[in-house]
Amino acid sequence: MKRKLVFATNNAHKLEEVREVVKDKFDILSLKDIGCNEDIAETGTTLIENALIKVRHVKNKYGYDCFGDDTGLEVGALNGAPGVFSARYAGDGHDAKANMKKLLKELDGETDRKACFRSVIALILNGEEHLFEGRIDGDILAEEHGTAGFGYDPVFRPDGYVQTFAELGMDIKNEISHRALAVKKLCDFLSKL
Ligand code: IMP
Repeated sequence: MKRKLVFATNNAHKLEEVREVVKDKFDILSLKDIGCNEDIAETGTTLIENALIKVRHVKNKYGYDCFGDDTGLEVGALNGAPGVFSARYAGDGHDAKANMKKLLKELDGETDRKACFRSVIALILNGEEHLFEGRIDGDILAEEHGTAGFGYDPVFRPDGYVQTFAELGMDIKNEISHRALAVKKLCDFLSKL
C-alpha cells in the first residue's frame, strides 16, 4: 500500500511532474482530491512563510502529510520586488501582461537588470517540516521576447543563454528552472525514504 501525500496545488502540470518521479512510493493527491476547494490565503511576507502556511493548513484541517510551493521573481535593483507579490504585482487580477509591463516600467533606464526566480517547497511529513529551494539567476530584458511559458517568461533571460524562458520553450525550461530544481530536491528526499 503506497503512502498518501498531498501536493497543495491543483496545477495539473506540477502534479504530473512530481507523480512521475515518486510514483513507486507515494500516491500524490491534489487539493481537489481531498475535497479542499478553498483558496488558501498566502498572507506571508516571504516565500517560505507562504509555502508553510499552505502545508500547515492542509495538515491541520485535513490531517494529511503534505507539501506545497511558492515562487517569486526577485529583482536586485528593486530590492527583491516583486517577490511574494509576483502573481499580483500590477494588482489582484493576476494579469501576466500587466505584471510584465509594470516591471519594465519600474526598470526603465536601470542598468542593473539582475534577477532570479526562487521556488520554495515546504513538506510536512511524520510531524516534521522540511524546506527545499530552487533558484535560477538571470536578467530582465528591456522588452518581451517569445511566446512560450507563462508569467514573466518573455522578459527573463537565464544566465548562460541568449534566449528568454519564453523562447527556450518548456523542454529546456523544465530542466533548468527554479521549480525543477526545487522539485528535484524534494523528489530526491522522498525517494530515499
Ligand atoms: P506560483 O507560486 O508558482 O503560483 O508563482 C507565483 C507567480 O510567480 C506566478 O503567478 C508568476 O507571475 C511568477 N512565476 C512563477 N514561476 C514562474 C516561471 O517559471 N516563469 C515566469 N513567471 C513565473
